[in-house]
Amino acid sequence: MRKFLCAGNWKMYLGPLAAKHFGDELRTALLEKGEMERAVREGAMELALMPPFVSITSLRQALGDLPVALGAQNCHGEVQGAFTGEISAPMLSEVGCDYVIIGHSERRHVFGEQDDVMAKKIRAVLTEGMTPVFCVGELLLERDKGETLSVLERQMRAVLPHVTAQEMSTRLVVAYEPVWAIGTGKVASENDAQEACRYLRGLVAAAGGVEAGDQVRVLYGGSVKPENASGLARQADIDGFLVGGASLKPESFLGIARAALA
Ligand code: PGA
Repeated sequence: MRKFLCAGNWKMYLGPLAAKHFGDELRTALLEKGEMERAVREGAMELALMPPFVSITSLRQALGDLPVALGAQNCHGEVQGAFTGEISAPMLSEVGCDYVIIGHSERRHVFGEQDDVMAKKIRAVLTEGMTPVFCVGELLLERDKGETLSVLERQMRAVLPHVTAQEMSTRLVVAYEPVWAIGTGKVASENDAQEACRYLRGLVAAAGGVEAGDQVRVLYGGSVKPENASGLARQADIDGFLVGGASLKPESFLGIARAALA
C-alpha cells in the first residue's frame, strides 16, 4: 500500500521565527482535531514540511514529537567542498531532514538547473538515506504543442538510470507539477493529473520493474487547495500532494490533508 503524502514546499517564505509560530499553531490544530493526529500516528497519511534551510531546526523544535517529517527544497550533489552558498545532503540529514525536493520547476527555470545535475543530487540524497521528491512537469507551451508526455519522459529518463529498482520501490517520490499550474491558481483537471501520474508510474515500471511501478509514490502539485484536494486525492495514481502557497498556513495545509483523507 502506498501511504498518502501531504508535503508542503514553503519556497522562500517563513524564516525561523515564523516557522516557530507555524509549528506551534500546527501542534495546537493537530491536537484539537484528534482524528487528524490519529490518522497520521496510525500511518493512514504522512505529513511533511520543506521550509527554507535556516528554518528547519526551529520548525523541528516547535513540532516536538508530532509525526511530521521535515525536508529541504534543494541540495548540492557533493558531500562537501568549495561551493560557496550551497548545502550538502549530509548536512540536511544531520538537521533531521527525511526528504529533499529535487528539480522543482523554479530550480529548473529560474536557476537554470540541468538534468545531469539533478541525477547527481538524487544520488546524494539517496546515499544519505533520505527520500528525493523529484519534480517533473511541462510548460504551458509544451502542453499546447501536445508534448506533455514526451517532456515527462525526457525528465524521468535523465534520472531513472541512476536509481536502483529497490530505491524506486522503497524511497523514490515523483511529483508531477505542471509548470502552468504552479502558483497560478490554475489546477490541472483531475483527469489530466491522473493521466500524467499514471504515465509517470509506467515509466518507473519500465525502468525498475512491476514492483517499482506499484510502489513508487507519485504526487500531484500545482495550486492544490482544500477545495480541490479531495477529487484529486481520489485518483488512482495520485499518492499525495506537493503544496506550495496553501502550505504556508497550518489551517489550509491541514485542510488539504483532511480533504484527502475524507
Ligand atoms: P503552489 O506550488 O501550490 O503554490 O502552486 C506548488 C509547488 O511549487 O510545489
